[in-house]
Amino acid sequence: MASVTISNVGKSFGAARVMQGVDVSIDDGEFVILVGPSGCGKSTLLRMVAGLETVTSGDIEIDGRRVNDLEPKDRDIAMVFQNYALYPQMTVAQNMGFALEIAGRPKAEIAAEVRKAADILSLTPLLARKPAQLSGGQRQRVAMGRAIVRHPKVFLFDEPLSNLDAKLRVQMRAEIKALHRRLGTTIIYVTHDQIEAMTMADKIVVLNGGRVEQIGAPLDLYDRPANLFVAGFIGSPAMNVLPAAPAGDALLVIDRFRLRRPDAATGTTLRYGIRPEDMLIGGEAAVEGIVEVIEPTGAETHLTLRIDEHVLTMVTKERPAVAAGDRLAVSLAPGRGHLFDAESGIRLAGC
Ligand SMILES: Nc1ncnc2c1ncn2[C@@H]1O[C@H](COP(=O)(O)OP(=O)(O)O)[C@@H](O)[C@H]1O
Ligand SMILES: [Mg+2]
Repeated sequence: MASVTISNVGKSFGAARVMQGVDVSIDDGEFVILVGPSGCGKSTLLRMVAGLETVTSGDIEIDGRRVNDLEPKDRDIAMVFQNYALYPQMTVAQNMGFALEIAGRPKAEIAAEVRKAADILSLTPLLARKPAQLSGGQRQRVAMGRAIVRHPKVFLFDEPLSNLDAKLRVQMRAEIKALHRRLGTTIIYVTHDQIEAMTMADKIVVLNGGRVEQIGAPLDLYDRPANLFVAGFIGSPAMNVLPAAPAGDALLVIDRFRLRRPDAATGTTLRYGIRPEDMLIGGEAAVEGIVEVIEPTGAETHLTLRIDEHVLTMVTKERPAVAAGDRLAVSLAPGRGHLFDAESGIRLAGC
């Protein structure tokens, strides 16, 4: 097990600078997820930690040792890719033991390691099969098994679940989490899926355009997003973001909702953000809107509401007796909103 420190790391491909000044420190045994939209640099950062990509500037340390110039094989890490990269002509057992065989380890030791990993991953009955005879989830487990047998200091995962169907993804999420609990190995895991990040990580790093937007525990990011980017990226359905302006002691949201003005609400370019579940049906100073879409999911109801030219999303545990086209009065739960500066995007206060 090991800590990983990424200090002021930058990356250029030729003239294209794709990463600038990224700082992330990962504790021994921590499960850290890098999340962000496609092209933001997640894979590049992971590949730099693995040694598959050179570091243009800054430093990467594993367990306090600078590894910038170390070969991948000398870094004591194991990477699990999206496409699994299994050898089709080898059995599951051979696939899992291959790295140890290359390393010249004795046959009995390899067999023991493979047996242990197969037991952890429930692969024991499948050891004699070829990859073509396995389901997607089973192949994914073999890919993890191949990493486990090496007892690496750090596991790196690059979107390992994105080729699986939705149900299997949920199951594998739980399996990888259980695996982490059992082995206690440091994990750096890349995904573009914020739900995956929220449900699995000890700590999330939100990347955007080659920069870190915020680092924090899942619910900290949800409850206190540092800026509009994180506010919009974490949470589904996404946070409602509406124009707001101070008016004396009040804060006016879309010129309709009247809230108490936080001290920080001084500028004119303000945005007010509120999560769909923090919009209430009725309530104090409710404002009428028109229901555009109503989606009962059973456990909750999703509503799309139009107020003037603004479209708002609501999620409620209630089952409101409304249909598309009906009027509905709604309010903003006091203290559950966020105030942002529209230009910098930075969160100024709760409100
Ligand atoms: N080998 C490469 N050569 C040139 N540009 C690259 C290379 N690999 C990645 N990039 C660019 O670097 C940026 C980050 O890519 P990547 O790390 O793959 O993003 P992500 O994994 O977040 O989708 C993108 O703009 C991508 O086009
Ligand atoms: Mg990628």
